[in-house]
Amino acid sequence: MLKAVILIGGPQKGTRFRPLSLDVPKPLFPVAGLPMVQHHIEACAAVPDIREILLLGYFPAQQLQQFVADMIAQYKIRIHYLQEYHALGTAGGIYHFRDQIKSGNPDAFFVLNGDVCGDFPLQEMLDFHTGLAMPSLITIMGTEATRQQSTMYGCIVEDKETHQILHYVEKPSTFVSPLINCGVYICSPDIFKRVGEIFNSRQDFYSSTDDGEATESIQLEQDILMPIAGTGQAYVYTTDRWWSQIKTAGSAIYANRHYLQLYHRTHPSRLTENGPNKPKIVGDVYIHPSASVDPSAVLGPNVSVGKNAVIGAGVRIRESIVLGNSTIQEHSCVLYTVVGWNSTVGAWTRLEGTPCDPNPNKPFAKMDNVPLFNTEGKLNPSITILGNDVRVVSEVVVLNSIVLPHKDLSSSTKNEIIL
Ligand code: GDD
Ligand code: GTP
Repeated sequence: MLKAVILIGGPQKGTRFRPLSLDVPKPLFPVAGLPMVQHHIEACAAVPDIREILLLGYFPAQQLQQFVADMIAQYKIRIHYLQEYHALGTAGGIYHFRDQIKSGNPDAFFVLNGDVCGDFPLQEMLDFHTGLAMPSLITIMGTEATRQQSTMYGCIVEDKETHQILHYVEKPSTFVSPLINCGVYICSPDIFKRVGEIFNSRQDFYSSTDDGEATESIQLEQDILMPIAGTGQAYVYTTDRWWSQIKTAGSAIYANRHYLQLYHRTHPSRLTENGPNKPKIVGDVYIHPSASVDPSAVLGPNVSVGKNAVIGAGVRIRESIVLGNSTIQEHSCVLYTVVGWNSTVGAWTRLEGTPCDPNPNKPFAKMDNVPLFNTEGKLNPSITILGNDVRVVSEVVVLNSIVLPHKDLSSSTKNEIIL
């Protein structure tokens, strides 16, 4: 029997994802029609040996309650949300809830970062982990990145024959290895002994600081992986399937495209088909059954339309996410944009952003998490985002702009943050 733990962080995390994470915890932001972590849950539920999924974070429990109930009903698997009393770090939370994880004696447990997305080969990774000649305390999913980008991740040096991890550095300042940590692990329950040693050795330090609680955290990467590397107890399973982080709103558009593509294999029924009296669909599009789309609208490729959204006549949407209860009035055009919940876009308006896709000419390139501002303090061109409950009047152009929640936009904007 196995379990899975999904690290979802808390309100202070996911700041680069604002303003979209102001109204909903970032892990619940919909990508390809499903809350971001539902894709993790779906991947875990598809592994027959996984019998329980634990979401670990420090969001107030009521923010996750409904979601957890929905997931249990949908996937018929035990799912719990365990709330940390403050940010305990990527290994601290796992240690704090060790009894819950160990109950029922699982042979091992998966740990997944909630802010990554991908075509997770969990069963293949498990087969690799269980097939190892020597027992592995922790097996990491790794993938290749460019030399330059690799330093933004945990970097792994492996023994090419045995796949043992010889060396691990978290976000090194200079190039170490193109093999990076995907934030997906399989741990043996014996790992708790390791984490416990660290926890106990730090008791004096925790109690000596004024702010003992705030510093009482343990990082899986620095505190466990770095010292364990080279001791023969950690292994890497390498994948070349699609994988990315979701740090910025721009990466949500990128993730949206890939999850939609994945539906061809996993859930073709979620993709909208062309038909008489239906809108014209180009490529992969998800439309929530409750949304109303005028038959003269053209959607796609790579568009998701949420619950109760209303799309008017002649509207064109491409590479965008339109969230629940929003309305796009007739003949408007939406490109590389996230339209927040309950927003209204007037008629003949154009919303357009700039994609920040990985460089297609560089093999193994990942998405760059471009900061909001460049070194001169100017806004970097990125996708356009309308926060929750934004109203955009008719006949304006909104280009590469971020509009905070509850704003009325009455004129055109370009490269601006509307506060
Ligand atoms: N429950 C809980 N408690 N979750 C946490 C905490 C915490 O105190 N701190 C972080 N997390 C969650 C975050 O929400 C996120 O899903 C995941 O753990 C990773 O946390 P970050 O601290 O943001 O790390 P990172 O994304 O910069 O880097 C990690 O992931 C990369 C892959 O995406 C590292 O593991 C890298 O080595 C790795 O390459
Ligand atoms: P490429 O396919 O990359 O060559 O782009 P494009 O020049 O066809 O168009 P663009 O990426 O600017 O827009 C994507 C789609 O939106 C195209 O099918 C356009 O016809 C359509 N489109 C562009 N601007 C408008 C507009 O203002 N209103 C409407 N209704 N559709 C538009």
